[in-house]
Amino acid sequence: MPLPVPALPEGVDPAWLPDEVFRPLGTRRVLVRGPGPLVATVHGEVAAACARFGGRVERAAAPEPCDLLLELTGDDDSEAFTFGRDADRTTVTASGPTGLLYGLFHVVRLGERAFAGEHRLTEHRPRLGIRMLDHWDNVAVHPVMGQVERGYAGGSLFWAAGRAREEWGRVRAYARLLAACGINAVAVNNVNVHATEARLLTDRIGEVAALAEAFRPYGIRTHLSVTFAAPMVLGGLPTADPLDEDVRAWWAAATGRVYAAIPDFGGYVVKADSEGQPGPFAYGRSHAEGANMLAAALAPHGGTVHWRAFVYDHRQDWRDRTTDRARAAHEQFAPLDGEFADNVLLQVKHGPMDFQVREPLSPVIGALPRTRLAVEVQATQEYTGQQRHVCWLGPMWSEALRFGHEGPDGPTVGERASALVAVANVGDDPFWTGHPLAQANLYTFGRLAWQPDADPGQLLDEWLALTFPGASAQLADGVRRVLAGSWRTYEKYTAPLGVGFMVQPGHHYGPSVDGYEYSPWGTYHFADRDGVGVDRSAATGTGYAAQYAKPWAEIYESPSTCPDELLLFFHHMPYGHVLHDGRTVIQHIYDTHFEGVEEVATARALWASLAPLLDRPRHTRVAERYDEQLRSAREWRDQVNTYFLRTSGVPDARGRRIY
Ligand code: GCU
Repeated sequence: MPLPVPALPEGVDPAWLPDEVFRPLGTRRVLVRGPGPLVATVHGEVAAACARFGGRVERAAAPEPCDLLLELTGDDDSEAFTFGRDADRTTVTASGPTGLLYGLFHVVRLGERAFAGEHRLTEHRPRLGIRMLDHWDNVAVHPVMGQVERGYAGGSLFWAAGRAREEWGRVRAYARLLAACGINAVAVNNVNVHATEARLLTDRIGEVAALAEAFRPYGIRTHLSVTFAAPMVLGGLPTADPLDEDVRAWWAAATGRVYAAIPDFGGYVVKADSEGQPGPFAYGRSHAEGANMLAAALAPHGGTVHWRAFVYDHRQDWRDRTTDRARAAHEQFAPLDGEFADNVLLQVKHGPMDFQVREPLSPVIGALPRTRLAVEVQATQEYTGQQRHVCWLGPMWSEALRFGHEGPDGPTVGERASALVAVANVGDDPFWTGHPLAQANLYTFGRLAWQPDADPGQLLDEWLALTFPGASAQLADGVRRVLAGSWRTYEKYTAPLGVGFMVQPGHHYGPSVDGYEYSPWGTYHFADRDGVGVDRSAATGTGYAAQYAKPWAEIYESPSTCPDELLLFFHHMPYGHVLHDGRTVIQHIYDTHFEGVEEVATARALWASLAPLLDRPRHTRVAERYDEQLRSAREWRDQVNTYFLRTSGVPDARGRRIY
């Protein structure tokens, strides 16, 4: 039986799966072969397309003449598929059911091209086995963080005011969108596990099982964030010591019950000894001992521990110049290489700080060759405009994934990692992502996780073609232009040259140059009358630069070789220092802030010109957000430029208005 395609609730945007993209498939004669539930999903997709566009779908046991054959040839867990076309037939085969599903969406992406000419038989296989979204969704509304921590797209798709929302149709529609860009894992609750959320692991596992049921037909495994203190807060034990036998037995039993409810459960996500969350340190145990205890509970069932490496001192004294937050994760984890169990993934943020618009690659990624790694990025735009600003992060993620961590020509992060994880940017907003153009971030993330060396520009075009099928050249070109350079534009009008932060404390939206300068969070810029930036060199600074392998350690060590865009991350520089592009640091600050605002104004005008070509709700929503982006960008420009004019006393060489 075909599984019916989930209907979108009234008013919800189809994102990159509008009906129209199924037309090429839906006008043809399609044969779907093979058994099992995921083939039923594929069959359902094809049946819906054919019902809409007049094609025909068959489920014959023996080959029959057709335009498209979708065939499952085995029952393994491979996600690969082969795609090819001879003179008159397009064929997709897969040895595992999820592979067939991905093959179907490959045909959808190709559109008419899938049925034209000949295509050499090629195999398509995801580079990364786990392509995951972490939802920072709270079950109960948190007094400070709300329903979704760092969520800018409304409420949670899964939870509302303390319980499951039970809008399974919407969750299934979400699963379908995720599968169409290759995502295969979702963690359904916040990494900061509060009391209500903790219980999802035990007496409320039924709610997680219901979510897993909605995700399963689209090849997505469900994961849960758990608290390390669970044996105490849920099990009533006196300790959560990972080497205590009762604790280990408790986790084994609890995990057994999870698998009884969710046989294909993916595993646990753990934020331990991080920003106040409990962890193994309380018992004098290492992160490896903590992670391995959970790994032992999951291993018999095939589950994975995502153990986060976001560990640092969040109660730092700003007067203490010997502590450097950027160093912390490497100091904790590098000595543990080789100690983690096989089913542990060390989940490392791509940069050493916290999802700033510009950071170097985390040195942890190159420091644990015998440890499996998940690289974490942030699709939710906490520090990149909170989905009120257009900021397409594809190029930033791509730079990180294509970075040669052993040297410019060495193996890349995408080759090194086993998993790519993004903090999700969706909610119950009709456009899913608050800002309609932020859908491009979610799509690009999934596709980069499948193929980390993909050209992000091509992925943007792919997203465009799906989201705006049949778009005129003017529309496609306009949308591409407002997105393509938006990350660099955002960088220009916010914190300069990699120095980071300068945001308003707490919510992190909008400028406050000294917002974190005297805080305990370890995020300082050290601007004074002579210069700005953090000396992280080995020779005179915190020594952070030496955490990299050569040649990076040497490249970052010296201001003369350090890339300009990271200069203030690695060095405290005089305002008069001349950058590689010939401008002084201070002039760079002024210029980029003026340029950034101009670029936003240009993009806003370009967007306005697209009004006749777009549906009204989408156009209006984006136009409104451009008004706010322009206001906010001006605020950034004026605060940053004024701050540095006052601090340095150096006037703008071009005599522009600074307050
Ligand atoms: C950031 C973010 C927090 C989040 C944390 C994390 O610091 O502001 O809300 O909990 O990252 O990644 O755990």
